[in-house]
Amino acid sequence: MIEEDEVDLVLNDLFELYGYDFTNYARASLKRRINRLFLLDKFPSFAEFRYRLKSDADYIKRVIEGLTVTVTEMFRDPLFYKILRAEVIPSLASKPFIRIWHAGCSTGEEVFSMAILLKEAGLLHKSLLYATDLNPEVLEKARKGIFPIVQMKQYSENYIESGGKNDFSAYYTAQYSQAKFVETLAERMIFSTHNLVSDRSFNEFDLILCRNVLIYFDKYLQERVLNLFNESIGTLGYLALGSKETLNFSAIKPNYKQINKEKIWRRIS
Ligand SMILES: C[S@@+](CC[C@H](N)C(=O)[O-])C[C@H]1O[C@@H](n2cnc3c(N)ncnc32)[C@H](O)[C@@H]1O
Repeated sequence: MIEEDEVDLVLNDLFELYGYDFTNYARASLKRRINRLFLLDKFPSFAEFRYRLKSDADYIKRVIEGLTVTVTEMFRDPLFYKILRAEVIPSLASKPFIRIWHAGCSTGEEVFSMAILLKEAGLLHKSLLYATDLNPEVLEKARKGIFPIVQMKQYSENYIESGGKNDFSAYYTAQYSQAKFVETLAERMIFSTHNLVSDRSFNEFDLILCRNVLIYFDKYLQERVLNLFNESIGTLGYLALGSKETLNFSAIKPNYKQINKEKIWRRIS
C-alpha cells in the first residue's frame, strides 16, 4: 500500500511534470484512489509506479481517470431538474441571451439534460451551454452525445419525474447498444477543458452548475472555487451545487439566497 509521504511524491510529480494540481483534493479519498490504481495496475513497488508516471506521458490519462470520479447520469436528482424547469429557466426566459456553465460536466449527461429543458421551454436557440472538465477523455465522449442504451429506462424515468411530458425516446436514436442524442440538442454546446484548480473565469453566466465536484475538494479549495463562481455569475444569476454540497460556510454566502432545498442559490447582491 502507498504511504502518506508517497502520496505527496505522486502529487508533486503530477504537478511538476503535467501541471495537474491535486494537492487540495480531499485527502482520504484521493489516497484511496491512488492505492486502487497502484493495485489494479499490479506495480511490484512504489518506485516502479512512480517511474511509469514520470516516464510514460500516455499513462497520465489513466492516472487522471483513476484519481477522478466521473459517475454521472441524465436528470440526476430529478427534483433538482423540476425546480430548474419551474423556477430557474422561466426567470431567464426574458433575457436576450442565456449563458450556462457546466463545470465538471464529465461525459455530458448533465448538459444534454439541460439542453432538453431549454428546448422544451423554447429557449435553446438563444442559449449557450459551456461544458468543461479537467479530463479531456470525458469531454471526447460528451461531444459525441452517445450514451449506453441500457441507461435509457432509468433516464426516461428521471425525465418524467423531473416534469418531462414528451416521449423521451424521441430525443435519441438507438444504434445497437448505444443511444445517439439528436444533433439539434448539441448545437448550442461548447466543450472545453478547464481546470477549476488552476484556470480562471472565462465569461459571465446566468447559471453555473457544478454538481458533485466540490465534494472531492478540501475546504480551502472549495472556497477558492466558490469565489471563482462568484466572479463569474451575473446579477441575479444562479449557482447550482450537488446534493451533498453547500455554500453555507463560504464567505460568498451573504451574496446569495437559497431558493429551495434542492441546492440552488440566486445572487442577490
Ligand atoms: C462525479 S462527476 C460529476 C458530473 C456531473 N456534474 C454530475 O453531477 O453528474 C465529477 C467531475 O468533476 C471533474 N473534475 C474533478 N476535478 C476537477 C477540476 N479540478 N476541474 C474541473 N473538473 C474537475 C471530474 O473529471 C469529473 O468528470
